[in-house]
Amino acid sequence: MNNFAVETINLTRRFDKKVAVDHLNLQVAEGEFYGFLGPNGAGKSTTIKMVVGLLRPTSGTAKIRGVDMWQSPLEAKQSIGVLPEGLNLYDRLTAREFVRFVGTMYGLERGTVQNRTEELLELMDLQGDADKLIVDYSHGMRKKTALAAALIHGPRVIFLDEPFEGVDAISGRAIRQVLQHLVDQGTTIFFSSHILEVVERLCTRVGVIADGRMVAEGTIPELRQRAAAGDTATLEDLFLKAVGASEEGAEERKLSWLA
Ligand SMILES: Nc1ncnc2c1ncn2[C@@H]1O[C@H](COP(=O)(O)OP(=O)(O)OP(=O)(O)O)[C@@H](O)[C@H]1O
Ligand SMILES: [Mg+2]
Repeated sequence: MNNFAVETINLTRRFDKKVAVDHLNLQVAEGEFYGFLGPNGAGKSTTIKMVVGLLRPTSGTAKIRGVDMWQSPLEAKQSIGVLPEGLNLYDRLTAREFVRFVGTMYGLERGTVQNRTEELLELMDLQGDADKLIVDYSHGMRKKTALAAALIHGPRVIFLDEPFEGVDAISGRAIRQVLQHLVDQGTTIFFSSHILEVVERLCTRVGVIADGRMVAEGTIPELRQRAAAGDTATLEDLFLKAVGASEEGAEERKLSWLA
């Protein structure tokens, strides 16, 4: 069987008249480190939510390692870890309790849950605050708690919606190292980010979405070639070109009252 780690088939979501995701077909092979880019409102979070079973598609579907998320959600969800957009954590638990709770819900043994929780808390530099209630956490601490919880069951495919947003440089580096390590071991990572420099450094392949449609996809050298851009073109140059916002031809924006 040659299943993709992630596959979407004409995946579509409407909100009233707005088509947030429009017949999206993407395929991510096992072991890829896939960066999902696009301007604000392009449809990245909506896509991720439909792929991981948090938001029902209007039409089309998504498969995880060949298992249809909307036909066999329990089976499909077993192999994924998710850092969602909204970070809905249980505010009245501490980080340690929350991460353990998630591990237990995945059916891991008690000893495994405890060991992995401690390792993850240390990795995220949360040990000093691990007995504080999540309600009192900063944004970055919540994000790191959610990330620890997403990793505890050793998922084969990990979805991260802006994992580096609001995270300090030290933790950012730790997270990058963990993600790289996971990919080296064969895990597939699918993540969205606006931090193009990180995407450029980590990803084996990127997809750029605008208005719910894929407008560019490939490795960075492939994107350069397709955009007829030089060898020195950065991912930012390629991104701006793909979404039609490169400097040539773009009108300057200014505020009338700051003339
Ligand atoms: N629950 C909702 N109800 C109505 N419209 C929605 C809803 N969720 C998303 N949208 C719309 O769908 C479009 C895509 O939103 P989405 O959150 O997927 O964008 P995004 O690419 O994740 O953007 P960002 O980079 O800002 O996170 C936007 O136009 C947004 O307003
Ligand atoms: Mg988003």
